[in-house]
Amino acid sequence: MNLILLGAPGAGKGTQAKRLEERLGLPQVSTGDMLRAAVREGTRLGLEAKGFMDRGELVPDSVVIGVAVERIARPDAKNGFVLDGFPRTLPQARGLEEMTGGDSRGFVVFDFEVPRGELVRRLSGRRWCPACQSTFHLESDPPKRTGVCDVDGVALVQRHDDEESVIAERLREYDARTFPLIEHYRTRAQMVPIDGNRPKDVVFQELLGAVEVHA
Ligand code: AP5
Repeated sequence: MNLILLGAPGAGKGTQAKRLEERLGLPQVSTGDMLRAAVREGTRLGLEAKGFMDRGELVPDSVVIGVAVERIARPDAKNGFVLDGFPRTLPQARGLEEMTGGDSRGFVVFDFEVPRGELVRRLSGRRWCPACQSTFHLESDPPKRTGVCDVDGVALVQRHDDEESVIAERLREYDARTFPLIEHYRTRAQMVPIDGNRPKDVVFQELLGAVEVHA
């Protein structure tokens, strides 16, 4: 079972991918998390990706496709995976098709729809645990103790790309390069629109229902 979570920055892909991973036993494959880990560790990949990420631009396809290929080839993904933030461009979608035998008819693509103002509200108020990747929101999902992760007690930080000027660039990149994927998948995969502007539990139940029907 291969699931793709498509949607603008802040649409809730990461939040729901974690829940799907726990419930379905399929690994969450987040290129954003993998790139951030590489930046933290100072690897060659991280050094290559950092400037693009800091500016809110997409990392070049050649780099990201390599990261995804390597991850999907691992044994824990042999029965399927939950793709979170990949593919994000048409060349990446074609790269994914090559990785999985040239066909995406078996893919279920969830297209998260959330109004622009709500995306900006979510991203600018998001705080993140650099150790376990848990996310919180200053107003709508605050941690129990201010500034500290509920899971492991590590100090929460704001992602550099959640600053307002960078958010604007990420949304521009989404409109120009990721939005066209909706049309790409409409005829090639099972496309399921999701109203992501509802409580997290409601969205999750709808995803599970759609997985039963389509996967
Ligand atoms: P990435 O980490 O993938 O960021 P993104 O797509 O911009 O997604 P976000 O993590 O910001 O949002 P999300 O949809 O996961 O929302 P979340 O669940 O966290 O990528 C970062 C960068 O890496 C890119 O800009 C690019 O440079 C690079 N990169 C990554 N993949 C790439 C690729 N394939 N190609 C090229 N470059 C790539 O939720 C956000 C907030 O909202 C949280 O605070 C959460 O608590 C809250 N929230 C979630 N759901 C709800 C809800 N239903 N109601 C209220 N609040 C909610």
